[in-house]
Amino acid sequence: MALEVKTIGVIGAGQMGSGITQVCAQSGYAVKLSDIDAAALAKSVAGIRGRMQRQVERDRITQNALDQTLANIDTGTDYKIFSDCDLIIEAATENEPVKCAIFEKLIPNLRPDALLATNTSSISITRLAAATDRAAHFIGMHFMNPVPVMKLVEIIRGIATDDDTFASVLAVGQKLGKTPVVSEDFPAFIVNRILMPMINEAVYTMHEGLASVTDIDTAMKLGTNHPMGPLELADFIGLDTCLSIMQVLHDGLADTKYRPCPLLVKYVDAGWLGRKTGRGFYDYSGDTPVPAR
Ligand code: CAA
Repeated sequence: MALEVKTIGVIGAGQMGSGITQVCAQSGYAVKLSDIDAAALAKSVAGIRGRMQRQVERDRITQNALDQTLANIDTGTDYKIFSDCDLIIEAATENEPVKCAIFEKLIPNLRPDALLATNTSSISITRLAAATDRAAHFIGMHFMNPVPVMKLVEIIRGIATDDDTFASVLAVGQKLGKTPVVSEDFPAFIVNRILMPMINEAVYTMHEGLASVTDIDTAMKLGTNHPMGPLELADFIGLDTCLSIMQVLHDGLADTKYRPCPLLVKYVDAGWLGRKTGRGFYDYSGDTPVPAR
């Protein structure tokens, strides 16, 4: 029988983990958030409070909803906090050995029937599942950034994921107010399989001198009604993340059409990773971003 999820654990207090924590707590789940860094936990909760406070000020939500959300969140640096969780969502660094090491430490702390999900954007769910003791109870739950705003969650079944796990996680996605879509477990799933080659192509158009950074972004914003142009979006996602997903597509599908643009590689080599480092295709040091080159 499908497990009814009431308590959710989240691993990783970065941008994605914080967003997932917020939407789960706002939807009435008891949430346990864990990170190796206690300062990151404090920063994550302060960020959730700050974002929701602004919504209270704009009459989007009530003060009571904010108080209730924060009351639903517990934090800790020890995986023992997950001992009563029905579902644990891993949202740590997008690095396979790191994720596998986390699962190894995590599993002795879990209930035998607990479900385990990963927010990976491109790593094989089947392979990650095989590194755990519960491949049947393992699944991909890929949220989009910013999690509180974006309506989508991709649900990815590994080859061994059972029907009850799928049903439980689908129900969670719906209770979070998201629209779930279901993807087979192939490199980068649906969104990144389509989005990243588009971003990569935008970098090629810039690399070939076809158009300026702002004209490429303006063309796609006004020409196709995207909220952000592809280069602006690449900076928002992180150029290292974009490159690593292109590499997963290139390696996993062995097709030259997924070759990462050499200019994207060069920017990542330079440490120009986008918004998070203050410079990517745009320079973020002033009040408004300007093209970096
Ligand atoms: N966290 C929470 N809420 C946020 C937020 C954040 N980081 N950024 C913006 N918001 C909220 C704002 O508070 C605001 O809410 P209200 O309407 O309640 O006031 C709302 O979003 C709109 O924000 P703004 O008016 O400040 O800005 P905007 O209208 O320019 O929208 C945006 C910002 C929502 C990010 C919009 O530009 C957008 O949709 N961009 C595209 C984002 C996208 O494509 N994300 C997917 C990336 S791919 C991915 O995530 C998968 C992967 O694996 C890489």
